[in-house]
Amino acid sequence: MRLYRDHLLPRLIHGVMRDARFLPLRRELAARARGRVLEIGIGSGLNLPLYDPGRVEAVLGVDPSHLLLTLARRRAEGRSFPVWLVQADAERLPLPDASMDTVLSSWTLCSIPDLGTALAEIARVLRPGGRFLFLEHGLSAEPSVARWQRLLTPFWRPLAGGCHLDRPIAERLRRAGLRPARLDTGYMLAGPRLFTYHYRGEAEPPERQSGAGADSAAGAEAAPGRGKGTACDR
Ligand SMILES: C[S@@+](CC[C@H](N)C(=O)[O-])C[C@H]1O[C@@H](n2cnc3c(N)ncnc32)[C@H](O)[C@@H]1O
Repeated sequence: MRLYRDHLLPRLIHGVMRDARFLPLRRELAARARGRVLEIGIGSGLNLPLYDPGRVEAVLGVDPSHLLLTLARRRAEGRSFPVWLVQADAERLPLPDASMDTVLSSWTLCSIPDLGTALAEIARVLRPGGRFLFLEHGLSAEPSVARWQRLLTPFWRPLAGGCHLDRPIAERLRRAGLRPARLDTGYMLAGPRLFTYHYRGEAEPPERQSGAGADSAAGAEAAPGRGKGTACDR
């Protein structure tokens, strides 16, 4: 099992995710990043060459997989902005409150075990006015497809690195207080509808009350282990 998780699965993820069909969607997403950027679940770093060096100050990429981070290091080389790669879960971000201008996630929210806590962490580390940029597959708006996604997820998840087919991404963002400022949904790639319904857009962090005390209280409440953080399986 460890052989699969630590060695085979990361190579499989890299092989699947480098598919050229994803490139236009990646380009469009990465072009909107600016300032200090956190990429959660950076994987093998396929977005790194797509960031605009004129707009991005630095990128911090986090991922739990050591092997994927090793592959990402190759794509970090030669970038004109600093890139830091850190082995970490999105549920426990090693960053202060309100420290990032952009948080970006592509095809990652499906695999995070405790999505509620990870979204609370994203909201915590984004500065007021910052943006969460997302491109994610998830629960289809078509009831017949959604039914199959719910049925198949328990079988699919153990094979595919924890990937859920049935996460209602927009609803989960709103529940975490991340307010979608732009949202497109639909089948954005060719292929089986179970896998190709996407949510793409930008969300704003929750408004913080003014004053340093209020800010840090908001952060403390959102941070895992110190406050709430919803444990939700889907
Ligand atoms: C389908 S891959 C996408 C990789 C990359 N975002 C891309 O666009 O190519 C899902 C990624 O989520 C990562 N992941 C899984 N659990 C995670 C967690 N708890 N926190 C952050 N990333 C996680 C995996 O290691 C993997 O790199």
